[in-house]
Amino acid sequence: MIDWSDFDKEYPVEDVIVNTLPEELQYKVAVNTTAKTFFDVHPSVMEDHQNQKLLENKKEMASLQMEFYDKFAKGFQNMDDNRKKRENAFQWKIERLAIYDEQFFKKPKLLFIGAGNCRFAIRFAKKGYKVTATDISRNMLLEGKKIADEMGLDITFVAQNAENPFPFKSEKFDTVYSLCVANHIVDWKNYFNEKMRCLKPNGVLLERMPNAKLWSFWKKQGELNKGVEIKAEKCHRDSAYSILNELNLTGDVWTHDRITRTDALARFYPFSIPRKLRMPFSKKIYKRRSYNEDEKLKPHEELVPDDDKGIYTMIRIEK
Ligand SMILES: C[S@@+](CC[C@H](N)C(=O)[O-])C[C@H]1O[C@@H](n2cnc3c(N)ncnc32)[C@H](O)[C@@H]1O
Repeated sequence: MIDWSDFDKEYPVEDVIVNTLPEELQYKVAVNTTAKTFFDVHPSVMEDHQNQKLLENKKEMASLQMEFYDKFAKGFQNMDDNRKKRENAFQWKIERLAIYDEQFFKKPKLLFIGAGNCRFAIRFAKKGYKVTATDISRNMLLEGKKIADEMGLDITFVAQNAENPFPFKSEKFDTVYSLCVANHIVDWKNYFNEKMRCLKPNGVLLERMPNAKLWSFWKKQGELNKGVEIKAEKCHRDSAYSILNELNLTGDVWTHDRITRTDALARFYPFSIPRKLRMPFSKKIYKRRSYNEDEKLKPHEELVPDDDKGIYTMIRIEK
């Protein structure tokens, strides 16, 4: 059920997704089930080292992002499904990050910008949040919608370009949240101002962004050096502080998910033993690692080292 009272005006609804995308982005792209990375969909962009100007062009960036995620959506979901079947570390990580982030949330209304295939949004909806999941890629949202329907969860889906003014009324949401989205955004000023506008007084903005310097996945793909993910370089502690200053906002900035001694232990892991036996052991190590950081090093307590060593940069602002 769509709660229209949150919207500035009525928008068309397609496949139960409220469509607020500007005209130039209203196209349907064929899925590409073999695409795994940005390279596969936009090879020329990735190869053209001179083409970094596009990083400052929000229209062009938005359509590249939309095309990539629309084509990749099925593959993205398959990847998650396979990981779920194999019960592997990535799934434990999603669970852990969701639990960690939720401790900062306010209930009940959660606006999720860039929810993708909703693997996080679904977890929050299950916990009783009234979730509005937005993304520039309708295909990503459709993957999420399939699962939400199977689980009988009531989520409002909105196809939206977060480079534009958001299609919501002011002061409607208790929490506004994103993870791994700011690195795709050109106009941070609009992005943060719009989030703040949509928050109720005393509401919470939580932003989780990749800390590019420590993000091994991108380093491996070379995306940090030559492709659109170079935007991620903006997402570390110092740039987060300067954007808050620029926008006259005060909030906390810290990093999360740091490499711990337990990871070092895992390097001596007995890979020769069968997967079935290895998994429970891995899970225990991962739980210990999470405990060491999430429980022992709670943010806002002096124990948190301000060292920029976590692979995510976190921003928390209370309105
Ligand atoms: C790395 S994925 C993260 C998805 C989800 N937050 C998660 O962690 O599972 C980035 C998401 O940002 C979305 N995105 C990129 N540019 C966007 C824009 N301008 N407006 C809205 N969403 C955007 C993409 O479509 C994609 O779903």
